[in-house]
Amino acid sequence: MQTDWSRFYSPGAEVQSYLKDVVERYRLGPYIKLRHEMTSARYDESTGKWHIRLTRPSDTGDLDEFEDTADLLFLGIGTLSRWSWPDIDGLEEFKGPRVHSANWNFGGSTWEEDVQDWKDKNIAVIGLGSSALQIVSALQDKVGRLYNFARGRTWIIPPFITDIFSDLLSRDATTDENYTFTDEEKKALNDPELGERFRRSLEEAMNDLSHGQTSHAITLRDTPLQRASREQFREHMLRKLKDKPEVAEKCGF
Ligand SMILES: Cc1cc2nc3c(=O)[nH]c(=O)nc-3n(C[C@H](O)[C@H](O)[C@H](O)COP(=O)(O)OP(=O)(O)OC[C@H]3O[C@@H](n4cnc5c(N)ncnc54)[C@H](O)[C@@H]3O)c2cc1C
Ligand SMILES: NC(=O)c1ccc[n+]([C@@H]2O[C@H](COP(=O)([O-])OP(=O)(O)OC[C@H]3O[C@@H](n4cnc5c(N)ncnc54)[C@H](OP(=O)(O)O)[C@@H]3O)[C@@H](O)[C@H]2O)c1
Repeated sequence: MQTDWSRFYSPGAEVQSYLKDVVERYRLGPYIKLRHEMTSARYDESTGKWHIRLTRPSDTGDLDEFEDTADLLFLGIGTLSRWSWPDIDGLEEFKGPRVHSANWNFGGSTWEEDVQDWKDKNIAVIGLGSSALQIVSALQDKVGRLYNFARGRTWIIPPFITDIFSDLLSRDATTDENYTFTDEEKKALNDPELGERFRRSLEEAMNDLSHGQTSHAITLRDTPLQRASREQFREHMLRKLKDKPEVAEKCGF
């Protein structure tokens, strides 16, 4: 298990490097087929096998189609991998580069590399979900002008499960900041007992549907926990917007 993450919400490049490391460490490369798309799957009762049609790019750039079989088919195709553009008049006529957050394809090895020439550019971000919040805050000091088009409103909630940090790492549980682990903390988390306890506590708090401050239980409509959380989040938004009360009022917080 990796114990020297730089921050609680680790940067993408660090997550990617961890995944590559796992693939190398356990020699998983030969078992992973990249750029293979499953186009159909049929279960044959008589042989007890799945017959799977797949495509993969050939040397000429065309797609090769072939069949493979499997005893067990495990689908992990995600719920967000089929993205689509919103239906906005004129979108197809827009002459500048455009990118969907689920298909960032500017070609650099990091997003920072992709945006290094954007200092004089006007950038428009459509939407106000998690993607837009991450993109706007990341780009705001790297581009000429940044416009965020929002048709509704959004909630930003205080970080949760921070109590585990304060219990196990003696950190301030009330801060809004992403945690950057100190060298001493990384060293402490390298201790198998503390590292395991820390990881398990985070997992339990994230996945537990019935107790305490969890990530999922607050989404159950009209439960006492959801009502209390809503009030807590409202107060958080008001605190965040204390210098812009007109925005808070307009959004109905
Ligand atoms: C822009 C964006 C940012 C996000 N940021 C965060 C974040 O910061 N933190 C967080 O916790 N969550 C984030 N999420 C959500 C998170 O990415 C997903 O919840 C998570 O990736 C789901 O994992 P998964 O393995 O189920 O599916 P995916 O990660 O979507 O993986 C599915 C894979 O299956 C492949 N696939 C699909 N169909 C086929 C097929 N027919 N044949 C072969 N392969 C196929 C896809 O190409 C893909 O590689 C983000 C999502 C998006 C879109
Ligand atoms: N850090 C993270 O954990 C993280 C980061 C990114 C994404 N994700 C996950 O990925 C999923 C997708 O998130 P997302 O932010 O990409 O998508 P999203 O939550 O669906 O947000 C899309 C945003 O675009 C707006 N929008 C759509 N069409 C529009 C239009 N024509 N004009 C103006 N605004 C328009 C929507 O407005 P309306 O609200 O009015 O429809 C919404 O604000 C979520 O499950 C999210 O949790 C997670």
